[in-house]
Amino acid sequence: MDRTAAVTPSAPVPPSAAVPPSAAEGDDDIGYDSYLDLEALLSSQRPTTPDSEAFTHASEHFFIVAHQSSELWLKQVLLDLELAAHAVAAPARDLELCLDHVQRAARIVELLAEHFAVLDRLSLSCFARFRRRLGTASGAASEQFRALNRALGLYGDKSALYQGFLDTLDERALTPVEMYRRAPQIGAVYRLAEGLVDLSQAVRRWQLVHLGAAIRQIGPSPGTGGSEGVDFLARRMAAPFPELWQARAQLHEAQAS
Ligand code: HEM
Repeated sequence: MDRTAAVTPSAPVPPSAAVPPSAAEGDDDIGYDSYLDLEALLSSQRPTTPDSEAFTHASEHFFIVAHQSSELWLKQVLLDLELAAHAVAAPARDLELCLDHVQRAARIVELLAEHFAVLDRLSLSCFARFRRRLGTASGAASEQFRALNRALGLYGDKSALYQGFLDTLDERALTPVEMYRRAPQIGAVYRLAEGLVDLSQAVRRWQLVHLGAAIRQIGPSPGTGGSEGVDFLARRMAAPFPELWQARAQLHEAQAS
């Protein structure tokens, strides 16, 4: 994988020139580029702005990379959430394995939220120039984001992951409030609840910073997807696993009374 690993150059050498691919990769070595399918990946950014308008072209490239990398990470989140749901389902109820996947998904969603700190560097005048060419293209059409919302139970039905967690509590004759009362000694089920709260919080953070980016970049203009824009996004904000947040609040209420 690492072409530079086989040599110890005395002076800094650009990675691409460090060693010829044929010397580092044996005949049966798949090679860095082909393993990652870099040719396809790096030729998938196609701004509508011509190269001749260099500054706007670069801004649109930046906008595309932010969206594409989000979709790529989302693919991983969906994979982890599927495996988390599988791990927590009966008969396995493997809470530690489930937690591993949930924690990774939560960290990635935090990273997705960070994309917006980067997107603040999108030049407004360039965005205005290429935005009219986006037509109706909008994040609202993202199939993977819809799948994420389903996996988080944001469309009303409880997701398989969350149902598996609630069933685990049921089998132990625990309500979410009772589980929190007996934490941390109650063990893995509590840690999993905390993992789900981390994930829920990361999703809320994504929603919040996305709203902030929309306010900064388009103000009161409508969205390209046909919605009224920021007001629509504000109404869409919702926390996954609301019963866990309610149970946390109930613990405070019980202390206050
Ligand atoms: C300059 C940056 C961005 C702006 C101004 C913006 C703006 C908007 C607006 C106004 C909407 C409402 C739907 C519409 O009418 O288009 C929307 C929806 C959405 N956008 Fe963005 N967005 C930005 C970046 C991103 C990025 C980087 C992603 C990640 C892939 C993303 C994903 C989504 C998703 C998933 C929705 C649907 C939300 C829902 O239905 O709850 N957006 N965006």
